Amino acid sequence: MQAKLLEGKVVAMTGGGGGLGRCYGVAMARAGAAVAVADIDTDAAQATVDAITAAGGRAFAVRTDVTRAADFEHLLDQAEARYGPLDVLLNIAGMFPRVALVDMTEETWDAVIALNLRSVYLGARAAIRRMLPRDRGIVLSTASGTGIRGQPKGSAYSASKAGIIGFTRAVSLELKDTNVRINCFGPGATDTPLWRVGKSEEDAKRLLAAGYVYQPDDFSSVVVFLASDLSWPLNGEFISRDLHR
Ligand SMILES: NC(=O)c1ccc[n+]([C@@H]2O[C@H](COP(=O)([O-])OP(=O)(O)OC[C@H]3O[C@@H](n4cnc5c(N)ncnc54)[C@H](O)[C@@H]3O)[C@@H](O)[C@H]2O)c1
Repeated sequence: MQAKLLEGKVVAMTGGGGGLGRCYGVAMARAGAAVAVADIDTDAAQATVDAITAAGGRAFAVRTDVTRAADFEHLLDQAEARYGPLDVLLNIAGMFPRVALVDMTEETWDAVIALNLRSVYLGARAAIRRMLPRDRGIVLSTASGTGIRGQPKGSAYSASKAGIIGFTRAVSLELKDTNVRINCFGPGATDTPLWRVGKSEEDAKRLLAAGYVYQPDDFSSVVVFLASDLSWPLNGEFISRDLHR
């Protein structure tokens, strides 16, 4: 019989209280991982912990602001103290304010880049510094097909997601002679609070009916695979499925 794909793995996951984070957390715990659920929203993180525990898994919540390097250190310290050496950092936290370029303030631009892109750099740096001496570990980040194809009212978001893809490719080259890997993925438009920002209920219904939108659990099996040793040949890749293609 095949062992569970993530049996014994220690995972730290940012944005763990969100629509995707909750499903990915439950799926990884079902696959055997112990999960540190990080989010700036502690109630949302705790709700994910409760969902994981209800599914028979192991998890705890850590309040984390991913724009702060010190918060990542705290998250990883807590995860390792509780469960042992970190195997996987899953960067999920993000935001997508829908704003046309002509109306884009510098504050909004900077906030999107800080939350979506700078956080990936901070998290990857903290995790990889711990992983390299052990010569094992995986960093996985949530990019988006929007980073490749663009989207109206999404200049900062698209730039941040394209940035994650470039960042991932660059770091993978630095890791090429090690057993530490870094990849990113794009789950496609998915019905979560982030996707609903700036959409009327009517627009959301129309897009859902047209089949352009995934449900939050649809990409979970891909995330479990990417977080597992079975994905060993992949380093520096962007794995995506985009229903707009
Ligand atoms: N939903 C989609 O259509 C879609 C498609 C492609 C990529 N993505 C990406 O997936 C990721 C998750 O999106 P989602 O749809 O689950 O969104 P969501 O809004 O449901 O979840 C985002 C989570 O990030 C948390 N967060 C916000 N600021 C934070 C901070 N400073 N520190 C820590 N946590 C913070 C929020 O509290 C929330 O729980 C994002 O990176 C998003 O860009 C989403």
